[in-house]
Amino acid sequence: MPAKISVHSGQSIDRISENIYGHFAEHLGRCIYGGIWVGDDDRVPTEEGIRMDTVELLQDLDMPVLRWPGGCFADDYHWEDGVGPREERPTRRNLWWAQGREERYVETNEFGTDEFLELCRLVDTDPYLAVNVGSATPEEALDWIEYCNSDGDTDLTKRRAENGHEEPYDVTYWGIGNENWGCGGRFAPDEYADQYRRFANYLSGFDDHINPGSTEFIACGHITEEWNEAFFERLDGGMEFGPGTFLGMGSPYKLLDHFSVHRYYQAGDDADFSDEQHYRLFARAEKIADDIDSAAETISAYVPRGDVGIIVDEWGTWHPQATPDNGLEQENTVRDALAAAGVFDIMHERADVVSMANIAQTVNVLQCLVQTDEDSAWTTPTYQVFDLYQNHSGNTAVEANVNADKKYFDEEDHDVPLVSASASVGDDELFVTASNRTIEQTETVEVEVDGAFGNPSGTALFREKGPRAYSTAVNAAEFEAEDISVSEAGEGSYAVDIPASSVVGVTFTK
Ligand code: AHR
Repeated sequence: MPAKISVHSGQSIDRISENIYGHFAEHLGRCIYGGIWVGDDDRVPTEEGIRMDTVELLQDLDMPVLRWPGGCFADDYHWEDGVGPREERPTRRNLWWAQGREERYVETNEFGTDEFLELCRLVDTDPYLAVNVGSATPEEALDWIEYCNSDGDTDLTKRRAENGHEEPYDVTYWGIGNENWGCGGRFAPDEYADQYRRFANYLSGFDDHINPGSTEFIACGHITEEWNEAFFERLDGGMEFGPGTFLGMGSPYKLLDHFSVHRYYQAGDDADFSDEQHYRLFARAEKIADDIDSAAETISAYVPRGDVGIIVDEWGTWHPQATPDNGLEQENTVRDALAAAGVFDIMHERADVVSMANIAQTVNVLQCLVQTDEDSAWTTPTYQVFDLYQNHSGNTAVEANVNADKKYFDEEDHDVPLVSASASVGDDELFVTASNRTIEQTETVEVEVDGAFGNPSGTALFREKGPRAYSTAVNAAEFEAEDISVSEAGEGSYAVDIPASSVVGVTFTK
């Protein structure tokens, strides 16, 4: 059956937040040390120790937000270790991850808060800091927000000025812990709710009274409904002002702005997988839809009049090749990029609830967008999907119904449509993205568009590459977008040939 995408440009879902194209960088393997920070190593151009080849690739991507310092690392990180003169900073364990290529489980603290915020300035992206809940105190978190955001005259703001930053950084996004059901403290949901309330109380008190600003606080949830429900039950019920007040409805503080979930997936090896595993990966990636829907249902039960967004602040492929000992490195293929395109389609469809997403991780680790060696940096196929899909950013997502053949699985995995798509409307423009997940077959897809949109122009990624291809320092440019032709097939109907294992973007104008 030929696939058909019916776009209903008048059926708006909501504005697509820029932040769903966000990123995550942890002190893990060669993400920070080697991929972003090289200090005095002069094999690549640097600014303040940050490698500029990586920065330039990220600048080209208009990256909206970057989460740091972890991950599991966040709940064993003490931010004061990483500020001040570098030669005086302590070397500590890294409890969870090998660092760099050679060193193991050692954290030099060369890259700390000021270096991270300098990276964000260079890349022109919003920082998102995750505070340590598992092994630290609210005082430590409060000191961190004061160091970053206060414009008062205190010891901590003086220290910031001595470290070269007179002006506050005004960090908006503050995650209160990471995976606190696991590496972030192994809390039961009610215990994390108690901790969350305690930490958020002080952080938001600071924001309300000392430095009125626009901070937003993020609780880290779980992918099971039971855990999330137990968390909200406790969070809400524990307030002395009565049920419903904690979440911003009549309470003196608004302590929760976003609730996050994480999802990783694999099927077969990174670049060596069967055809069946090829399709299974998409089914597993699409479980993100269930995660978002289930979190949205829980939130709406507990926060009926509130405004709590869902953040997917860790997502992507995690293949068996990525192990703690190799710093979670894996090949990043076209198949991974196709899976990312499908995840974005899911998030666009849920633009009314998804407030941010952060792929794991930006450089060298897991489903990275940039890879580096000693003296070069290059982009992965997933980078190209981000680049193409970001044309949806800030647009209004609209209904796009896909009618396509499916790959059927057993009960373990969902059935997978062989074509995935989404659409959005911007200023006088309609943008449609679609991916053909088949391994060998070009799909001629009919795109039906209502309203006054016409004049299509299209681009395609990965033509003739195949799902197992991955980029290297030498061939990365071959994965960039190429123009394709889109033909008119009737009134408001267009035919797009989508090559096997490729992603297309089509812009229509009025
Ligand atoms: O991204 C790698 C790890 O995966 C993170 O540190 C942790 O939060 C998750 O389990």
